[in-house]
Amino acid sequence: MLTLGVETSCDETAVAIVRDGREVVSSVVASQASRHAPFGGVVPEIAAREHVLALVPVFERALEEAGCAREDIDLVAVTERPGLLAALLSGIAAAQALGLALDVPVIGVNHVEAHLVAPFLVDGRAPEWPLLSLVVSGGHTHLFLSRGDEDHLLLGATLDDAAGEAFDKVAKLLRLGYPGGPVVQRAAESGDPEAVVFKRPYLSKESLDFSFSGLKTAVLYHCFGQTPDGKPGGDRLKPGLRVEDVAASFQACVVDVLDRKLRRAVEQTGVTRVAIGGGVACNGPLRERLRRTAAERQWELLLAPPALCTDNAAMVAARGAQVWAARGGVPRPLEASPRASWVRRPAGGTVAKG
Ligand code: KG4
Ligand code: ZN
Repeated sequence: MLTLGVETSCDETAVAIVRDGREVVSSVVASQASRHAPFGGVVPEIAAREHVLALVPVFERALEEAGCAREDIDLVAVTERPGLLAALLSGIAAAQALGLALDVPVIGVNHVEAHLVAPFLVDGRAPEWPLLSLVVSGGHTHLFLSRGDEDHLLLGATLDDAAGEAFDKVAKLLRLGYPGGPVVQRAAESGDPEAVVFKRPYLSKESLDFSFSGLKTAVLYHCFGQTPDGKPGGDRLKPGLRVEDVAASFQACVVDVLDRKLRRAVEQTGVTRVAIGGGVACNGPLRERLRRTAAERQWELLLAPPALCTDNAAMVAARGAQVWAARGGVPRPLEASPRASWVRRPAGGTVAKG
C-alpha cells in the first residue's frame, strides 16, 4: 500500500510516499526558513502563502523521486493538528483535492504523533512496546509512555516554551539568526559549555514536565544586564561577551535537562526502550549525550535520523497508514486545529512498571 503524506503545519512544505507504513520511498521537504529569517520566527500568513505556492512542485518531485504514478497512490495522509491554522488549512485543502482527483481516501494525522513514528522509519522496523518517547521540537516538548500505536500516555510536557523555541529565542538574543537550533549548535562548537552555569530547570524532584522560559530570561540578563527594577539592561550585548560561550552554556543546560528527565522517566516507569524525535533531536551534543546514557544504563535508544527529526511528510504518511489500519479503513472528517491533547498521567500518579 502506498501512502502519500502532506505536511504543512509550520514552515516546511513536505510531501512523501511511504510503502506499507514503514518504507520511505521518497521524501521531499521545501523549507521556508529564509522567508521567515528576517522576522526571527515564523510569520503564519507568509507560511500559508508559501505552502500554497510550493505544494504542487513538491508533490510532483515526490512522485518523480518515488518513480511512481499518481494512480499508484492508495491513501493520502495530511497533518490536521496541531499547528498554524492557516498553514494547516492549505495542506488539508490540497490533500482533499488530491483525494478527489485520485479517488482515494484522505486521513488526518496528529503532527506530534507523526514525530513519534519517525524513529521507526529506519530499516522499516516495527514499533515495539512499551516505549518512552520524547518529542522535542519548535512547538513541543512532550514525553509519552507509549503502549501501542494508539495508546500514548502523556507523562510530561513543557509548561511554557518548547525546547526548540528556547533555541530559536536564544539565537535571536545572540543575533545568530533563524532557525535557532542549528546556528546555536554551530556557535557552541567554539564555545565553553562551562563558561556560564545556567540554573537547570528540573522543577520538582519527581516532575517530568519541562520549563525553558526562565532559562531564556537568564540568558537575556546575562547578555544585556538588568536594571534595578528587573528589566533587561538595554538592547546591546555586553562588551566582551563571548557569544559562543553563552551558546555552548545554554545548549549544555538544555541537554542536561532532557537527559535527566529521560533518566527520571525510565526510573519511574521501568521502561528502558527510549525513542526521540522532533527538530531538537538533530542536536549533535544531545544525540551524543543520550547515546552515552543509553550505553551506561543499557537502554535501547531509537534516534530518528536528522532528516526525519525535523518536519517531514514521511512521518505523516507512516502515521496516516497506522491510523487508517487502526480505524479499519473507515474515514472520518478532517479537523484542522491549532491544538491537540492527550490523556495525561494523573498528578503524582505512578505508572505500572512494565
Ligand atoms: O520538528 P520541527 O522541524 O518543527 C516543529 O514541529 O516545531 O522542529 C523545529 C525546531 C526549531 O525550533 C529548531 O531551532 C530546532 O527544531 N532545531 C534544533 C536543531 N535543528 C533544529 N535545535 C537544536 N539543535 C539543532 N541542531
Ligand atoms: Zn514538528
